[in-house]
Amino acid sequence: MGHYIPDHVLSNADLEKMVDTNDEWIRTRTGIRERRILKDPDKATAFMAVEAAREALQSANIEAADVDAIIVATVTPDYLFPATAALVQKRLGAENAFGFDLSAACSGFLYALSTGTMMVESGRYEKVLVIGADTMSSITDYTDRATCILFGDAAGAVLLEPTGDETGIIDFVNHTDGDLDCHLYQRAGGSLHPASEETVKNRDHCVYQDGRVVFKKATEGMADVSLEIMNKHNLNGDDVAWLVPHQANKRIIDATARRMGLSDEKVMINIDKYGNTTAATIPLCLYDWKDQLQYGDKLVLSAFGGGYTWGAVYMTWSLNR
Ligand code: COA
Repeated sequence: MGHYIPDHVLSNADLEKMVDTNDEWIRTRTGIRERRILKDPDKATAFMAVEAAREALQSANIEAADVDAIIVATVTPDYLFPATAALVQKRLGAENAFGFDLSAACSGFLYALSTGTMMVESGRYEKVLVIGADTMSSITDYTDRATCILFGDAAGAVLLEPTGDETGIIDFVNHTDGDLDCHLYQRAGGSLHPASEETVKNRDHCVYQDGRVVFKKATEGMADVSLEIMNKHNLNGDDVAWLVPHQANKRIIDATARRMGLSDEKVMINIDKYGNTTAATIPLCLYDWKDQLQYGDKLVLSAFGGGYTWGAVYMTWSLNR
């Protein structure tokens, strides 16, 4: 595993100076204390993805030339095309890998992990880099207090390989509901509303979210899908060592853990430090907890995001034997 978090800290106190909000409101409604922002104008998602991928390869003792495929989950690619994965492939020196981006908002990492798993399971590929990376500050409206408090920038990467034993990624479930009455999206910049003076003036290139509607959907969806995969494998709260949840709001995570029958100490939470980094939240959690994870630990990873998209992965830990 590898990760990258930018140095610059944007605290709740800093946001108090930018919009009409306060630390107490942000902490109690979301669990966030601070988030990281990528400040260098010459750097973006591909930069963070490469840093995270380099660390992952180094920790696995694998040369970049041995990587077969690169999947980058992101909604903030450096360019609409070429894919961020192509930039990453070149900068890593992964000359034998092909790569592509995957767009599924906050569920992006889990969709990419499922895709990479199937590529390895098929026997066609042996080393697949799965990266979740987002520069959310590039699409955040820092005049909208309801959204700008939520997001941060980061990247996380994992290298998938065959385990050779019964551990590893055992199963996943993914769902999509392309709700036309969209409550979470970036209105402009795509082919329907390309960039124009009007779209820039209206800040339509930033995240739009109806927080209240999305909160309800996310709370139901993340708990439902976590229970779905637990029921499928006859797991109860005692069996699960860790919930690795997407970090959108601490209240959503708490509600999911309650419905799964998990106590607080089995839940990975780092939203206080990083905010919602979209595709990066789950690999960042795995990275932060890597020394506590034991061989054979049963993990449930789950996420909900724009689209709507949601999903869960059930795995047993293959490292730290
Ligand atoms: N500071 C202070 N007050 C704020 C505020 C802020 N940053 N943002 C909104 N408010 C106000 C609202 O204007 C509203 O005021 P009103 O009651 O006078 O109208 C009040 O706080 C409550 O707003 P509401 O939107 O109902 O708050 P909430 O409890 O739903 O929390 C979110 C807002 C965004 C934190 C929450 O809805 C959320 O986390 N949504 C889902 C996020 C998510 O999961 N995204 C998708 C997955 S990535």
